[in-house]
Amino acid sequence: MAEQKLTGRRAIVTGGATGIGYGIALRFIAEGATVIITDIDKAGGTNAAERLGPSCDFVHHDVSVPEEWDNVFAIAADRFSGLDIMVNVAGVTLMGTIEDVDVKTWDTTMAVNVRSCFLGCQGAIKLMKNDGGGAIINMASVSAFRPQAELVAYNTSKAGVDMMTKSVALHCARSGYGINVNSINPGVIQTAMLEKVINQVEDGEALMDSYKAMHPIGRIGEPEDVAAMAVYLASEEASFITGSGFTVDGSLSNN
Ligand SMILES: NC(=O)c1ccc[n+]([C@@H]2O[C@H](COP(=O)([O-])OP(=O)(O)OC[C@H]3O[C@@H](n4cnc5c(N)ncnc54)[C@H](O)[C@@H]3O)[C@@H](O)[C@H]2O)c1
Repeated sequence: MAEQKLTGRRAIVTGGATGIGYGIALRFIAEGATVIITDIDKAGGTNAAERLGPSCDFVHHDVSVPEEWDNVFAIAADRFSGLDIMVNVAGVTLMGTIEDVDVKTWDTTMAVNVRSCFLGCQGAIKLMKNDGGGAIINMASVSAFRPQAELVAYNTSKAGVDMMTKSVALHCARSGYGINVNSINPGVIQTAMLEKVINQVEDGEALMDSYKAMHPIGRIGEPEDVAAMAVYLASEEASFITGSGFTVDGSLSNN
């Protein structure tokens, strides 16, 4: 059997009920970690934790609400007596161009996609900095640097996640905390979020075909593709890597 890469590591993964977050939790556990998944979807999160088994707990959590983060970190401190890995995955894709996005949609996107990472980084650093350091991974997207007219809020939020990651990484490096902070920029990944986007447009099939054609490698991604990068960034092997964004996109961003 191959050596496990995250033996004994304690992790929080937001948005763990499904999709990329679930895929990361699954891989982390296979690599020997203990994981708290959090999600706004109570039934989905409970069910996911059951499927993930005894190395997983679920905490009901809206990542856009600061007080709910206090609860998540209190549970982690209590259950784990610390934290080694924080993965900020939860996010939403709310569509609209500059002419049709309203302020509520804009604010929701920023709260769920960007403020969540800010709060997750802040709380994780408190737990990690005097306890041997750790790894923080923020889920951005190729949308951070590939504009789409109908994704003005999403594009902006993911560019914000990338730059926040760099700023937080620089602070942690200079402070000597031993905390590495990186982001992942997936291409199109087969998840419920993608299904929602496809269902929101008139010709979903055509959009899906265009997404597939965007990936020179000949397929869209799977949650496992992103999880493999998360395992690497959370492992000892990535100890010199901080403040970077990693595309997992079948060369989409070069197309
Ligand atoms: N699927 C893709 O093609 C793709 C590509 C690039 C980046 N991403 C990013 O990856 C992340 C996960 O995407 P996914 O495709 O797995 O999405 P998904 O919709 O399949 O899963 C997202 C999870 O986050 C949860 N969530 C949503 N709002 C929340 C909130 N306020 N508080 C807590 N949990 C909340 C949902 O309930 C869901 O379980 C997102 O940040 C997304 O922007 C996805």
